[in-house]
Amino acid sequence: MTNSSDFREWGKEMVDYIADYMDGVSERPPLSKVKPGYLRSLIPDEAPQYPDKWQDVMQDIERVIMPGVTHWQSPHFHAYFACGNSYASILADMLSDAIGCLGFSWISSPACTELEMVTLDWLGKMLQLPESFLTCTEGSKGGGVIQGTASESTAMALLSAKMKTINKQHELDPDKDQYEIMSKLVAYTSEYAHCSVERASLISSVRMRKLPTDAKFALRGDTLAQAITEDKANGLIPAFVCVNLGTTTSCAFDNLAEIGAICERENIWLHVDAAYAGTSFICPEFRPLADGLEFADSFNFNPHKWMLVNFDCSAMWVRNQIDLVSAFHVDATYLKHEHQDVVVDYRHWHIPFGRRFRSLKLWFVLRLFGVTKLQEHVRKHVSLAREFESFVRQDDRFEIVADVVLGLVCFRLKGSDTLNEELLDRVTKTGKIFMVGSHLNQQFIIRFAVCAAQTESEDILYAWNAIKEEVDGLQVNNNK
Ligand SMILES: Cc1ncc(COP(=O)(O)O)c(C=O)c1O
Repeated sequence: MTNSSDFREWGKEMVDYIADYMDGVSERPPLSKVKPGYLRSLIPDEAPQYPDKWQDVMQDIERVIMPGVTHWQSPHFHAYFACGNSYASILADMLSDAIGCLGFSWISSPACTELEMVTLDWLGKMLQLPESFLTCTEGSKGGGVIQGTASESTAMALLSAKMKTINKQHELDPDKDQYEIMSKLVAYTSEYAHCSVERASLISSVRMRKLPTDAKFALRGDTLAQAITEDKANGLIPAFVCVNLGTTTSCAFDNLAEIGAICERENIWLHVDAAYAGTSFICPEFRPLADGLEFADSFNFNPHKWMLVNFDCSAMWVRNQIDLVSAFHVDATYLKHEHQDVVVDYRHWHIPFGRRFRSLKLWFVLRLFGVTKLQEHVRKHVSLAREFESFVRQDDRFEIVADVVLGLVCFRLKGSDTLNEELLDRVTKTGKIFMVGSHLNQQFIIRFAVCAAQTESEDILYAWNAIKEEVDGLQVNNNK
């Protein structure tokens, strides 16, 4: 493809393919059934010496790619959490790809930096974040940035907390060796934090304690306070707490207000991971789930999960941007520009150097849906989850194992873990729906998440019937 006339023609064909794919995605099995290594035998061993024909490439999408795709946008996909998608976002990503800029500094593409600052202020207001997080607040030291993933946001927060604490300790005692301080730092989170939180501790070489939770799978203030007291008595330095609002296993909410007050008293960096649940805070009725946010030093959620923005787009705010910028500041002559003292250069805010124009898709989604349609989307998913919950509750062979707060239902058959694992396995093998299991209270549970934007009540009933049919079969077999 070398000219714009090919692009116009092929582009239209691709847009049609995408629209057909989305319209027909519910007809495809949600979970790919291919075996490892399936793809190599379907394509040549070497790249073509001369250009392939566009039509051949297009045909290979169905022949080579689609059999190996797990269809996250299918209304029968109920695994993990949602992966955002909408035509508005796809169109914006096309434009971003065409502009093809790298926004590592303001001058490298001013719109890339400035649109990000403005859209994150919009988003921050939609979520009713504390004003200190917004760039538009007078005298604000805070601000927002789009990271690739929640994992990167947690790692950035922990790495910044580590540098801040080391510097603080060094100021108190300049003779103290930096590496000795580092070896004493300790971070805390709940036993149900996403595995990326543990990974952040590995990346930053800060030990992390995973603390037990209460009956609602929430980390409470007294548990944290006790851990801090123990660690301080042992000469350790508490440096970081990651609060989870909407855990991956059961969508539980740590007690942010209790924990926040402790972090403030102890002068410990408080990071809030609301990767999935954060989108719901745009609805006034769900915003109380984030009470206590005024204590946070950093907050993150993924518009690329539940807010109809395609991966990747993870929104992070900090109360004091200096904490990030000073921890990761690098410069080179070729990066200098005349406005660098008065503008944001986003390369200092994250781990990679280059960055895509991701705010475009956020901007398109916010404008083409508007706050009301996004709120409707959240409310609809919550109500679909409640529909599924009520099916489960009406069947006394099953139990609900965690409060259904948003779009996730955790349930199990009353009986052994083996029975539940077998049920999940059988349902998966039907190819009708895709769910995953997890462990809660040391018991195997099944997670049913409302994921795709197109999910309707009939899909919930379809899923419930697919599960019920397998239970009936399972019990017949078990009775033999
Ligand atoms: C609570 C929570 N935190 C973090 C993550 C990781 O998200 P990401 O893929 O953006 O790193 C997830 C993923 O599902 C999650 O549920």
